[in-house]
Amino acid sequence: MKKNSMKTFIQNIPKAELHVHIEGSLEPELMFKLAKRNNISLKYGSVDKLNMAYKFCDLQSFLNIYYEGAAVLIQEQDFYDMTWAFIEKLKSQNVLHAEIFFDPQTHTTRGVPFKTVINGIYRALQDGEKKYKISTGLIMCFLRHLDEKSAMKTLEESIPFKDKIIGVGLDSSELGNPPSKFTNVFSKALSFGYLTVAHAGEEGPAEYIWEALDMLKVSRIDHGVRCVEDKNLVEEIIKRKIPLTVCPLSNLKLGVFKKLEEHNLKELLDYGVLVTVNSDDPAYFGGYIGDNFLSIQESLALKKEDIYKLAKNSFEASFLNIKEKQSMLKKLDSFVTEGVLH
Ligand code: ADE
Ligand code: ZN
Repeated sequence: MKKNSMKTFIQNIPKAELHVHIEGSLEPELMFKLAKRNNISLKYGSVDKLNMAYKFCDLQSFLNIYYEGAAVLIQEQDFYDMTWAFIEKLKSQNVLHAEIFFDPQTHTTRGVPFKTVINGIYRALQDGEKKYKISTGLIMCFLRHLDEKSAMKTLEESIPFKDKIIGVGLDSSELGNPPSKFTNVFSKALSFGYLTVAHAGEEGPAEYIWEALDMLKVSRIDHGVRCVEDKNLVEEIIKRKIPLTVCPLSNLKLGVFKKLEEHNLKELLDYGVLVTVNSDDPAYFGGYIGDNFLSIQESLALKKEDIYKLAKNSFEASFLNIKEKQSMLKKLDSFVTEGVLH
């Protein structure tokens, strides 16, 4: 098959993005613009120098730069502008639905009010729904390098905005911060009616995935690629139909896999795990969802049938209701006619 034909297929196939940190979509150009707007001086003097600093050896080396970048976000309009730029990317890659993480503590610990963060992000999402009919949901993540008390405070702060948030998640430095540290706050979040997800098995061991499932009662695992180290866990994930939101370019850039050719996405797909392809922090890892699909397709020689299955999984693994899922799956199926697939 011609390279271009696969590229166009991947770009145009209807899909859902289920693992993206909105702060990780902040492109260097916009970062500089916001820094200027807010009179903040950045450690790196130019977009080129900043881009050159984007060489990571592990999750922590990335997070250090990521939190620095997020410090340019001060006013509601800054959060709006960042989110709006992301909506335009979703549109260009035919994403019909996106479930988007935000990290309130990254901002509230710097004195930016919770309402400034959520109102800016949410207003852009609403405009995206109006202008492009892209459906979206917000997932509030707790920073796991902070303590459970801080997460609990954040949970309380979110209650007046509950109608704007579909669930809670857990992100930031995984090693040494197991899911069990957050059992009480997740239990409270569930009692408020939030859905729960957690990053687990990105750098951390399979045991962290067990904890996320059994202690935090998550309905989805973010990353989860290290599940293959425990056969019983893989069986359980398949049995419980727990989706894994996998992010190939992120895994490559953070050294989870040395080469994309060594990535276990296809292995998981063939076992029958409900895996999806996502972008994580697209401005830092070299691409949005379509770029992730294309890179992993090339590296693992995926066929159009695999891409179709991954796109289908993305809707099935989403938090859309049954009717919404059916409507999007119908759009996917009419895109993937016999002629297109073979
Ligand atoms: N925050 C932003 N990106 C992340 C990742 N890949 N893992 C954990 N926390 C994150
Ligand atoms: Zn992530």
